[in-house]
Amino acid sequence: MPSETMSHDAETAPSTVTVTPLAIHIGAEIGGVDLSRPLAPEQVRDIRAALVRWKVVFFRDQPMNHRQHIDFSRQFGAVTPGHVVYGGDGEFPEIYPITKHRTANNFQDQVLLRPWTGWHTDLTAAINPPMASILRGVVVPPYGGDTQFTSLVAAYNALSPAMRGFVDGLRGIHRNAPPQEVKAGKEYEELVKKRTLISEHPLVRVHPESGERALYAGPIHLKSIAGLSPRESQVMLEMLWEHLVRTEFTVRFKWEPGSVAFWDNRAACHLAPRDIFDSDFDREFYRTTLVGDVPVGVDGRPSTSIQGDPITAA
Ligand code: SIN
Repeated sequence: MPSETMSHDAETAPSTVTVTPLAIHIGAEIGGVDLSRPLAPEQVRDIRAALVRWKVVFFRDQPMNHRQHIDFSRQFGAVTPGHVVYGGDGEFPEIYPITKHRTANNFQDQVLLRPWTGWHTDLTAAINPPMASILRGVVVPPYGGDTQFTSLVAAYNALSPAMRGFVDGLRGIHRNAPPQEVKAGKEYEELVKKRTLISEHPLVRVHPESGERALYAGPIHLKSIAGLSPRESQVMLEMLWEHLVRTEFTVRFKWEPGSVAFWDNRAACHLAPRDIFDSDFDREFYRTTLVGDVPVGVDGRPSTSIQGDPITAA
């Protein structure tokens, strides 16, 4: 796979960052950096540019402790509490542990699995969903446990012009409740009751940095389309969800200990693995998220909050 060094204007300094694309629409591996140490400004600039271009970027062999993970994240924006519903790690409130034993409860008694079940963009129920998420693999299964990502920009662009015109004017209602087909653990239900978030977002979000249009329709939190009848909304959402998980818009990441994935929640959806629950392998990952802005639609209208407070820095 060809790898390219970033090009620059005469005024801008070159950096060591290399970017190797992994799929046509989404995903690139970044080399030439040590994430455990402060980055040079031009490295931050080039990683950010690659993130916006590729929607998710991956790093290999970057062992970090929680403090280094938080410090790396801070170079790209304010860091949120680990999770608005689950909270964070006691000593490091910005760190959200994603461990196999913790997520196992969320996969009990699934009654109707569909191809888009589990795909999501982080916390779209909030008025300002996290701009990006940074996930680090510590205990990694020898095989299995891959994470998949899809480009919401590629998905939008592949709709017919007539459908793009229709969805451009629609808005979705997002709520932090699990989809009907997934029986959530009691713990999650109790926590959600204490912090219910409901927001109306444009169904097509204009990316604040690239200007690209993204089909902002991550399945887990998006419950209905405003102004449509319940049946119209259900059929329309299922059609859009089936579309956005088409494999040609996706990339699949195989983790190694020390791997890091950094994704842009304004333009990507992801799927955590389920295959690990069919094995005895352990999986222990840690995530930070960056404070996001309020989405804006094609018509320039921002999202509106129906319930809950914005996500702020930890
Ligand atoms: C996530 O959904 O943020 C975690 C993804 C993963 O565990 O691979």
